[in-house]
Amino acid sequence: MITSTCLSINEENHLTIGGIDTTKLAAKYGTPLYVLDEDTIRANCRLYTESMNRFYDGNGLILYASKALCNTALCKIVASENMGVDVVSGGELYTAHKAGVPMDKVYFHGNNKTADELELALSLGVGRFIVDNRDELLLLNSLCEKMGKKASILFRVTPGIDAHTHDFIMTGQIDCKFGVVLETGDAMDIIRLASTLENVTVVGVHCHIGSQIFDLDPFCEAAKVMVNFMGDVKDTLGLTLTELNLGGGFGICYTEADDPIPYDKYMEAVSKVVKETTAKRGLPLPKILMEPGRSIVGSAGITLYTVGSVKPIPDVRNYLAVDGGMGDNPRYMLYEAEYEFLLANRAGDEKNEVYTIAGKCCESGDLLGEHIALPKAKPGDVLAVLATGAYNYSMASNYNRIPRPAMVMTSGGKERVVVKRETYEDVIKNDCE
Ligand code: LLP
Repeated sequence: MITSTCLSINEENHLTIGGIDTTKLAAKYGTPLYVLDEDTIRANCRLYTESMNRFYDGNGLILYASKALCNTALCKIVASENMGVDVVSGGELYTAHKAGVPMDKVYFHGNNKTADELELALSLGVGRFIVDNRDELLLLNSLCEKMGKKASILFRVTPGIDAHTHDFIMTGQIDCKFGVVLETGDAMDIIRLASTLENVTVVGVHCHIGSQIFDLDPFCEAAKVMVNFMGDVKDTLGLTLTELNLGGGFGICYTEADDPIPYDKYMEAVSKVVKETTAKRGLPLPKILMEPGRSIVGSAGITLYTVGSVKPIPDVRNYLAVDGGMGDNPRYMLYEAEYEFLLANRAGDEKNEVYTIAGKCCESGDLLGEHIALPKAKPGDVLAVLATGAYNYSMASNYNRIPRPAMVMTSGGKERVVVKRETYEDVIKNDCE
């Protein structure tokens, strides 16, 4: 089932993205190939920015969570859509900086930022630091002193929300490597400590309750808990926090089983909760930040592979091996993440065979999917995996010294390369004798 609006099937029975024949893209740029539709990415950005305007009078900022997919082209696109960028490492920060993202719109996350990363961020003038823990707070304060800088900070708080999602990406609960715990009083204590430090100013709090979430309730509950905590901070410490960052995690459609809520529904519901709870607690309305990653890029992307071999093992399974795998998409291995697959060169054909899709790495678990229905496949067919725009390229590796794929972006019926295919020279370029 094709759900993304940028995908279609043309008269030749080929899959198209952004109106362009994917078999032609595969022939021209080689496979594996990441292809993203820029027009879809921009439309997704606007869904968020417009709903922030509609439901919260524009008193906020949408930050693109660049961990979902970070490169120069994408940072430029989101910046031109008036969004900020959430970065979580020196590498993401550097990319955003080089792409020209205004640094005051960059929010620096991470549970263990190094002194080097913090110094880079301070020297570039990053807008906000999302401080994760006490040690980081003290380190940041002392680096500020050394560099003669001041930092505006938010604290990452774990609000104790148990969002219904895969265990590995469930982060709002108390047993979590990220953030300071609200329930135990740690969150209040760290804000008290920060308010005594010379070089940091606490402007707000942040939470992120998980990823690929379809329910509105955990987001609303988190917003309520966070605003009440802001009320407690004011009552206890006399400090009025002005920013509330509610993180990302909005689910997308990978398969028929997924039923995402329209993104403006989140904004509508969360705005209501924030307005009601601030009124109850006698607080001014805070600036709201939201950090969508997957829902900006996920459904805008596909990956194209060439089928290399088909190996039936009677009464066991049929393997279909492609020229990529865990190196360009480790998500099946990590989370048993499910995707839609189709043969791009026979896109509308009946799916009357069932395959296990294997990658080319020297690892039995290197699979992209199991129990995948496809038309009878043969070497040379182009396999398309849908909704791979998020957490594929950004999680890619060079395992087995396989060069990482190129990335092409389509827009207005044209395409351009936004990331070149790695070469064997790239693979050895940091090797020393
Ligand atoms: N903000 C913070 C603080 C986060 O930790 C994350 C994701 C996001 C925003 C963006 O969440 P999104 O809107 O993309 O769900 N590798 C996993 C996902 C890990 C998400 C980590 N944090 C995957 O492939 O599913």
